[in-house]
Amino acid sequence: MAPSTLTALAEEKTLQASFVRDEDERPKVAYNDFSNEIPVISIAGMDDGGEKRGEICSKIVKACEEWGVFQIVDHGVDAKLVSEMTTLAKEFFALPPEEKLRFDMSGGKKGGFIVSSHLQGEAVQDWREIVTYFSYPTRNRDYSRWPDKPEAWRAVTEEYSQKLMELACKLLGVLSEAMGLETEALTKACVDMDQKVVVNFYPKCPQPDLTLGLKRHTDPGTITLLLQDTVGGLQATRDNGKSWITVQPVEGAFVVNLGDHGHYLSNGRFKNADHQAVVNSNSSRLSIATFQNPAPDASVYPLKIREGEKSVLDEPITFAEMYRRKMSKDIDMAMKKKLAK
Ligand code: SIN
Ligand code: FE2
Repeated sequence: MAPSTLTALAEEKTLQASFVRDEDERPKVAYNDFSNEIPVISIAGMDDGGEKRGEICSKIVKACEEWGVFQIVDHGVDAKLVSEMTTLAKEFFALPPEEKLRFDMSGGKKGGFIVSSHLQGEAVQDWREIVTYFSYPTRNRDYSRWPDKPEAWRAVTEEYSQKLMELACKLLGVLSEAMGLETEALTKACVDMDQKVVVNFYPKCPQPDLTLGLKRHTDPGTITLLLQDTVGGLQATRDNGKSWITVQPVEGAFVVNLGDHGHYLSNGRFKNADHQAVVNSNSSRLSIATFQNPAPDASVYPLKIREGEKSVLDEPITFAEMYRRKMSKDIDMAMKKKLAK
């Protein structure tokens, strides 16, 4: 049975069995053994055009080809807004369980609070609590699923969502150019861009070596803008998934992950970052992931197939279908693992 919050479990000496992962899935690198291999790119002056934009674009191309993930600084999102968003999120997770459970998402509700597994129905639980909400298109906003405590949450969240949507659109422009396409190509391919925000809270964990905060995965959408605090815990793969690094937290930076949609549109030239989050016994950790996804019926197919290349997809499919196939593959794998035990 999945616990309803992690508050009590975080105080125990041993980890509840439902969070214990098979050995091959457990963390290989410590949460604070930081690597600075993931490029940190200043995007100051990106909109001025000319040489500067070209330079930023080349750095992004290199990062996407090598990693599918990079960090951006000088992005123009107000530091005060970011800090308010973080403070309010921490206040929400510190509320008593019954308050958080007023927004309980279990039972298939769209948005709200949950102790989350990566996949619904999967045997092993992730050591995280989340609050998630759908922010764009604005018709998708169901305020009854957005926390109403702390009081300022909703207004700050709306502003944060808007600023991140603006930043994401700018980045999609540079990424389009990085793919050798016209600036608007990626935004057009998303049709009516969706935005979903997931606020992750990873409490201190009694036995962090046995579990994960968030299981290994690639994000399904176009790009994700991840804000993380300075604790550390985000890990990315290198050498085609053979080894792991812990991403060095950079205060005020956004980690930009390329998702499956971005990967397919680039015909596989840009990697979809393979990543996970680990936890620790010293302190809790907060991260806020803003997923920029195409509309569900947007077509997924490479935007440019270079000479001599084959398409990574046999035929165009909708984003909804791409997502369905991804999830059923993941569920199949989880089931096989369960049955093999
Ligand atoms: C995510 O992959 O959505 C979150 C990762 C993290 O918390 O660092
Ligand atoms: Fe992710």
